[in-house]
Amino acid sequence: DWTMDAYKDEAIRLIREQVGDAKVICGLSGGVDSSVAAVLIHEAIGDQLTCVFVDHGLLRKGEAEEVVKMFRDHYNMPLIHADEQDLFLGELDGVSDPETKRKTIGKLFIDVFQKHAAEVGGAKFLAQGTLYPDVIESVSFSGGPSVTIKSHHNVGGLPEKMGLELVEPLRELFKDEVRALGHELGLPDAFIGRHPFPGPGLAIRCPGEITRQKLDILREADAVYIDQIRRHNLYDEIWQAFVAILPVRTVGVMGDGRTYDFACALRAVTSVDGMTADYYPFSHDFLGETATRIINEVPGINRVTYDITSKPPGTIEWE
Ligand code: XMP
Repeated sequence: DWTMDAYKDEAIRLIREQVGDAKVICGLSGGVDSSVAAVLIHEAIGDQLTCVFVDHGLLRKGEAEEVVKMFRDHYNMPLIHADEQDLFLGELDGVSDPETKRKTIGKLFIDVFQKHAAEVGGAKFLAQGTLYPDVIESVSFSGGPSVTIKSHHNVGGLPEKMGLELVEPLRELFKDEVRALGHELGLPDAFIGRHPFPGPGLAIRCPGEITRQKLDILREADAVYIDQIRRHNLYDEIWQAFVAILPVRTVGVMGDGRTYDFACALRAVTSVDGMTADYYPFSHDFLGETATRIINEVPGINRVTYDITSKPPGTIEWE
């Protein structure tokens, strides 16, 4: 696509101009945005870039392995795999307010990036895959007065004295444009087609207090749900799908026994840019089969609901 090709060349020129011969670290989340940003910046400045993949303990099942493998196998990029699960989950312990969670996570990301910036020999820049909708949603609600809906970790909460300048080459793009750019950069289609995954990860799919037990249950349920979606060939029709674990346990029966386990909500939406979204109209057969599988295969969940809220008035994530 010639437009994206031209955009790519211009973006590369601007990155070189901004960065000079300084070192850059890039936070990789495993999502499409940060991956496209990383590959683009790598094309622009080569080994001046080091990627940092932070495992905050809020990743999906198998995610850390997949991302690290993909970047080490397909790209010859210096990549630090930072296991910071204890740090993040420790600080989040007992926190249930959604904004406090986001601010805590944002601050820890910065701490971790700063540590690694020093380790690679003094990086001057931090690169992020911030998109245009991230910028808008953090600043104002369309048309209305300036109201913060939530602190997007990519944008908000950067301490003044972070000591790192931001490189955000995707700041003007929407999701579909980022995918086109990723294609232009030669990223595998299966990767480009991945559903978005937010930087704060499972923290925004676990309303209430975050515990390791809830996260483990959530990871298992999510893996079953995504497997169901793939088996039914629906993955590419859906913009984003995931499970949220609800902060409520209810009574159920299984076999001859009483259970008292968590409820979960399945989410699946269609969208163009994440700013508005419609819930996906699964068949009742699909929903019934998925609920049965999750309850049979995931200890700790005895009730499955499907979220039929569109955005607005809902949001896509559950926080
Ligand atoms: P909401 O829940 O606001 O989500 O309707 C809209 C889209 O944005 C993603 N999202 C984030 N992505 N960092 C990210 O990288 C964040 O802090 C963040 N918060 C929400 C969300 O997954 C959905 O695709």
